[in-house]
Amino acid sequence: MKKYAIVGCGRLGTALARYMADAGYSPAGFASRGLASAKRAAAVSGSDAPVSLLPWEVTPGADIVMITTPDGAIRETAEKIAEYQGVKKDTVVLHCSGAHASTELEALRRCGAKTGSLHPLQSFAAENVEKNPFVGIMAAVEGEPEAVKTARSLAENLGAGPFEIQTDKKMLYHASAVVASNYMVTLMNLALQLIIASGVPASRGFAILKPLVQGTLSNIERAGIPGALTGPIARGDVETVRDHISEISAKAPTRLELYRLIGKHTIEIAEARGDLTGEAAGELKKLLSEPDR
Ligand SMILES: NC(=O)c1ccc[n+]([C@@H]2O[C@H](COP(=O)([O-])OP(=O)(O)OC[C@H]3O[C@@H](n4cnc5c(N)ncnc54)[C@H](OP(=O)(O)O)[C@@H]3O)[C@@H](O)[C@H]2O)c1
Repeated sequence: MKKYAIVGCGRLGTALARYMADAGYSPAGFASRGLASAKRAAAVSGSDAPVSLLPWEVTPGADIVMITTPDGAIRETAEKIAEYQGVKKDTVVLHCSGAHASTELEALRRCGAKTGSLHPLQSFAAENVEKNPFVGIMAAVEGEPEAVKTARSLAENLGAGPFEIQTDKKMLYHASAVVASNYMVTLMNLALQLIIASGVPASRGFAILKPLVQGTLSNIERAGIPGALTGPIARGDVETVRDHISEISAKAPTRLELYRLIGKHTIEIAEARGDLTGEAAGELKKLLSEPDR
């Protein structure tokens, strides 16, 4: 049975503490900036494994060390563990940052550890771990081959789907995740502000738009991009887009810049579909580029 240690017992570290134990890994110890967090992680793992403020006191007994401190503390934590020779040769050390690559763990690699990263594509909002948050999600893995192998099987044992990314392209992968998740929030905010400006009560806005958004996601899955694109830009309906701009300009002027910007990028997709004529595309480009039209 592989032994694991968690360093940084916050939202993700606590979930790992619980669900790695459930998946058959054996707790070797828990370290955090405060003892209360480390004790909570030990408790949810159902073990009496040691807890400490000093990571190198709990990591030597582990086959897998998960560093789940905030991103900014990963490198320094790895350097400290290395300084105190806190890992055995061939111990797999993984961090869980989406933006940073396994190169943050260079100090431990030099000590003989196998280093990698495992980024679960999930939002861990609280240390409440009643429901397994790993089931059905995807997890990006990268790093040294032995670390990738361990990270893959860990993800699978937790119920997630692992996929490999290139170490030197990790930042682009993370930018993609930010657009898919965070910018989706921004896009929904724009849609909600416009529907509220149209007179729909704020309390009903989301429920009204939700089936449309879900249908669009299904269409993207089924027909791909650009097959899923519908609406005035796809149809080359210049007059409707002109009317949108005029109404937004009058009733929600601070929203116009974003409407125009996304519209401009939507033209590219409509052109790729092949049913937007050159003339309509030209008109739409002008309309969406010129603030005074
Ligand atoms: N939350 C998410 O949705 C999510 C999703 C995917 C990946 N991640 C990644 O997971 C990692 C952890 O994120 P999180 O959201 O779980 O953060 P978090 O809730 O803030 O937890 C981080 C924990 O690290 C501890 N800590 C801080 N500095 C430390 C240090 N120098 N040494 C040891 N422990 C330290 C803190 O301890 P105390 O509580 O003891 O003060 C805190 O509990 C990050 O790399 C993040 O990018 C997070």
